[in-house]
Amino acid sequence: MDKGKVLLSVTGFNPRRWHELLSSGREVVLEPERPADPSITYAVVWKQPANLLAGLPRLKAIFSIGAGVDHILADRSVPDVPIVRVVAENLARHMTEYVVWRVLDHHRFGPLYQAQQKRKIWREPPQRTASDIAVGVMGLGNLGQAAARALLSLGFRVNGWSRSERSVDGVTTFAGDAGLRPFLNATDILVVLLPLTAATAGIVNYGLLKELRRRNALGGAVLINAGRGRLQKDDDILRALEDGTLKEASLDVFEVEPLPKTSPLWSHPKVFVTPHSAATSDPDHLVAPMLAQMDAHDRGEPLRDLVDKRAGY
Ligand code: NDP
Ligand code: OXD
Repeated sequence: MDKGKVLLSVTGFNPRRWHELLSSGREVVLEPERPADPSITYAVVWKQPANLLAGLPRLKAIFSIGAGVDHILADRSVPDVPIVRVVAENLARHMTEYVVWRVLDHHRFGPLYQAQQKRKIWREPPQRTASDIAVGVMGLGNLGQAAARALLSLGFRVNGWSRSERSVDGVTTFAGDAGLRPFLNATDILVVLLPLTAATAGIVNYGLLKELRRRNALGGAVLINAGRGRLQKDDDILRALEDGTLKEASLDVFEVEPLPKTSPLWSHPKVFVTPHSAATSDPDHLVAPMLAQMDAHDRGEPLRDLVDKRAGY
């Protein structure tokens, strides 16, 4: 059977390894080689150029190389074929490491000790107990649930917020608009692991941060965002840090990426910046299951990990 070709378009990523591994199963067209090739049946993409996918008459499905798909849906001309996103243990493990690392750093006085070290100060604040701190995970999906379980195992109290009701052992869960304020009011460290959709864009704003618990064992509220930059308002975070609404923040994602050199977030003493690297998609883990899904789909089997286009994730 003619397997059809794969179009590979991964703006901002080095395509070499993706190309090499995908080529072991299918002929690959690397954008912008001949993107309009009519024998292309699958596309593997990250931030594809606008209109790239619109002109492919035999396209059967689009594979995102990330868990998020906002980068695909931002292009209105994307044809109405199924979109498959990344759901992978390896990605969840990387994200869990990032979340645990940042939560522990805020809990264990990382920013304070860094400032003290610069001034050669030998001073120990009173030790805190994890069970006195409530971490609230916004987005209880594949990544949020994995992070929540790891935090529970370290003794933190964990709250979770999702669109629909979720039940996760040991996690106090909240859902929907009605659940948002009670979730925030019970949270000391907010971990954002939401997808970017029409409903979530700009959700991490000053008004939301104001609802976090400030009188707590940490001496203030902390924000950790590893979801998407456009979930947050960078200026609102700066304002919240200035007036004490927030004590500290760890940000992996930003409204504009790369974070402009002029952004005050770079040098803010209470902000820890990473370059959208919390959980990076690894072709060595992801390509084999993608190729297997393409073959299975060609045999008539249903695709897994499909995006609900109406919900936007
Ligand atoms: P999932 O789709 O598995 O989970 C998304 C969660 O968010 C679900 O619990 C969902 O609710 C909830 N949610 C969505 N919309 C709303 C809403 N309007 N109100 C309340 N809750 C909502 O996604 P993943 O866990 O796999 O990934 C989450 C995001 O992490 C990705 O979309 C991506 O943007 C980001 N990401 C960032 C990376 C990085 O390196 N910084 C790496 C990988 C991913 P429900 O359970 O009801 O569906
Ligand atoms: C993703 C990402 O969505 O890397 O997977 O941001």
